[in-house]
Amino acid sequence: MNQEPIRLAHVGVGYWGRNVLRNFASLPGVELLWVCDRDLDRARLQLPGPGVQVTDRFEDVLADGRVQAVSIATPTEWHYAMARQALESGRDVFVEKPMTLTVEEALRLVELVERTGRILMVGHLLLYHPAFVYAESLIERGELGQVYYLYTTRVNLGIVRRHENAFQSLAPHDIALAIQYLRDQPVAVSAHGRAFLQPGIEDVVFATIYFASGRIAHLHTSWLDPHKVRRATLVGSRKMVVIDDVEAIEKVRIYDKGVDFRPTEPRMYETYTEAMTIRDGDIYIPRIPMQEPLRLECEHFIGCVRERRQPKSDVHNGLQVVRVLEAAQRSLRSGRTEPIAG
Ligand SMILES: NC(=O)c1ccc[n+]([C@@H]2O[C@H](COP(=O)([O-])OP(=O)(O)OC[C@H]3O[C@@H](n4cnc5c(N)ncnc54)[C@H](O)[C@@H]3O)[C@@H](O)[C@H]2O)c1
Repeated sequence: MNQEPIRLAHVGVGYWGRNVLRNFASLPGVELLWVCDRDLDRARLQLPGPGVQVTDRFEDVLADGRVQAVSIATPTEWHYAMARQALESGRDVFVEKPMTLTVEEALRLVELVERTGRILMVGHLLLYHPAFVYAESLIERGELGQVYYLYTTRVNLGIVRRHENAFQSLAPHDIALAIQYLRDQPVAVSAHGRAFLQPGIEDVVFATIYFASGRIAHLHTSWLDPHKVRRATLVGSRKMVVIDDVEAIEKVRIYDKGVDFRPTEPRMYETYTEAMTIRDGDIYIPRIPMQEPLRLECEHFIGCVRERRQPKSDVHNGLQVVRVLEAAQRSLRSGRTEPIAG
């Protein structure tokens, strides 16, 4: 196995980017060459150690022939231009969510990845989070039965963004999760929201995503809420699961609850509901070894670069999420359910 370090440059060390940088910088098998931020003082402050160069110009990063992979955690409006330049210059790319601002940009990145054979991974963090991965394994093993529907709540007070609404800022994680859990194609979205703090920038959004199979996912996102809630509820035909990321340890609860049909002939009963029984069974809390999800995400990217395999959140997954985001924006403006192309 090739044990040469992957030589990486990181761009953007704001609120989130500094966490991404910290994780990549501490991973074995990674040699960090550059930290780039247009705020040079901030970049200098975040330097993880000696031997790492600092710049406020992305061109400096691209001009360094040693750089194999670029990690991008700049504001979303920069994602497309930076990812494109990095891919075109032969680099693999990690880019924060959402992958791009528009579907058009996302499609261009898909085309570029296919043409160059480079790897692009999007920071859909929950796909690497041990509690959410555990719930995914329950679905794969059939323990929940058929997943009927799911809903997520991602609300708290702040961070209020200026260039994107609460849905654009917070929902990409939950959209990626819903697609992963339902293993289904989103076909339409209906979103309702209100802007109170800044004109035209919704602070709270309630959205329903409709999938090809007819199943639905409901997402509640807000940065104007008294509670900090990070929760997903999955309702399956056999069991139900709640994943609560605010819980320190007991993040997953499996409810042996559901509605069963008596195995006898339905016509033995007066009404259809008489043929059903409510199963209100045990609640099980599995022990899930926790690791920092962001570290696992960064490890996954480095593994994919090293072994030339497709990331779990690859460019196609990034495109799917941007398609939902764009349709949700249309729905917020039109007040109607909007189709999702693709
Ligand atoms: N995965 C997560 O849970 C998560 C959480 C928060 C934010 N994010 C994502 O991370 C990205 C960054 O968000 P943030 O909250 O850190 O934003 P931020 O505004 O705090 O930081 C952005 C940084 O990028 C720098 N920057 C801006 N334009 C640049 C350019 N052209 N060249 C170089 N540097 C530039 C800024 O100086 C700043 O330091 C966004 O895409 C956001 O959606 C992800």
